[in-house]
Amino acid sequence: MMRVGIVGASGITGGELIRLVIQHPEFELTYLGGRSSVGRTPAQLHPGLRLDLGLTVEAVDPDALAERCDVVFLATPAPASVRLAEQLAGRVACVADLSGAFRIRDPKLHDRWYPKARRSAELADRFVYGVPELIGDQLVDAALISVPGCYATAITLGLAPLVQALGLSLRTVVVDGKSGSSGGGIQLRVPDLHPFRNGAIAPYAPTGHRHAAEVSDFLGQSKPGSIGSLAMSAYGVSHVRGLLASVYAYTDDAVDQRELQRAYLRFYKDHRFVRVRRHNETLIPMPDPQAVLGSNYCDVTVMYDQDAERIVVLAALDNLIKGAAGQAVQAVNRRFHLPEDMGLTMQPVMPT
Ligand SMILES: NC(=O)c1ccc[n+]([C@@H]2O[C@H](COP(=O)([O-])OP(=O)(O)OC[C@H]3O[C@@H](n4cnc5c(N)ncnc54)[C@H](OP(=O)(O)O)[C@@H]3O)[C@@H](O)[C@H]2O)c1
Repeated sequence: MMRVGIVGASGITGGELIRLVIQHPEFELTYLGGRSSVGRTPAQLHPGLRLDLGLTVEAVDPDALAERCDVVFLATPAPASVRLAEQLAGRVACVADLSGAFRIRDPKLHDRWYPKARRSAELADRFVYGVPELIGDQLVDAALISVPGCYATAITLGLAPLVQALGLSLRTVVVDGKSGSSGGGIQLRVPDLHPFRNGAIAPYAPTGHRHAAEVSDFLGQSKPGSIGSLAMSAYGVSHVRGLLASVYAYTDDAVDQRELQRAYLRFYKDHRFVRVRRHNETLIPMPDPQAVLGSNYCDVTVMYDQDAERIVVLAALDNLIKGAAGQAVQAVNRRFHLPEDMGLTMQPVMPT
């Protein structure tokens, strides 16, 4: 059994991690860490988890974490993750950080999007960017894992076959992202209050989003194709969880609709968590966050829009699971040579 600690246990992804870890056959939850929630039980913090786990949230103590854990999930803001990673690197078998602190390799790009999370180049270089479908082998025995962002996961999984399998040179990629309110965590912010959020389509990042920088940083090095520029606008919508990334890619290369779909099916055929949707095969034919909620799936489809000469990729996932806690568990499974889907076989809850 792997002894598991969660720092940020009171938070929204921390709660999801608790739920997944206590159901995982090879994980034993041994430590909950936090700051303002110290002394509280999971049941007090997460109304859905009315279980006596025999644990309360403790002030973060790196020595205690090192002694009582093999794996530590950091579900904390990026600046806190930097400090904790510095304290824990080399002292536990694996640290999996859910924040953006170590996702962007390029130091300038990182500092632009995460100015409060200053990290050393030496530590950043030791992190593996944990998107298991694309770099699974690098996760085996990885000591430090940076779990990709929620939008970044959907966009990356959506674009990867175009660049890596079809070898397309994408001149311009434009992403339109729509996400539910849980994407912002449990912090109180006026625009997120019910009177403003309910029924809203709120453009909160119309001219740029740090997850676009994350995708460019990671997929920008992919071959044999390439990505020129990648732009993103993001909107908050009124549901609680789930996101949809609509990705429009422009290329001068020849594109064939049937070959596109075949390439996606081939690319993900051995990856159970990416479901390539074929048009008209179900009641809801297109990727829709509703159809993945509560699961670790990312639903993807690809089409060619002949009139506008653009490739349209749609990708939907649950931001708290495949976009956060589920993907973190999936990556840690790979790290410890466990089946990638261990503890993650739950099916979506629908209707919600
Ligand atoms: N929400 C999402 O959809 C999502 C998806 C992917 C990744 N993420 C990333 O995951 C991380 C957590 O997100 P979240 O949405 O779960 O945030 P959240 O709900 O706001 O929770 C933040 C947690 O961090 C803890 N924390 C803050 N500062 C700390 C410190 N100095 N030391 C120890 N604990 C500290 C808080 O503990 P106390 O309550 O005890 O103070 C709280 O448990 C963030 O980096 C976020 O960007 C979030």
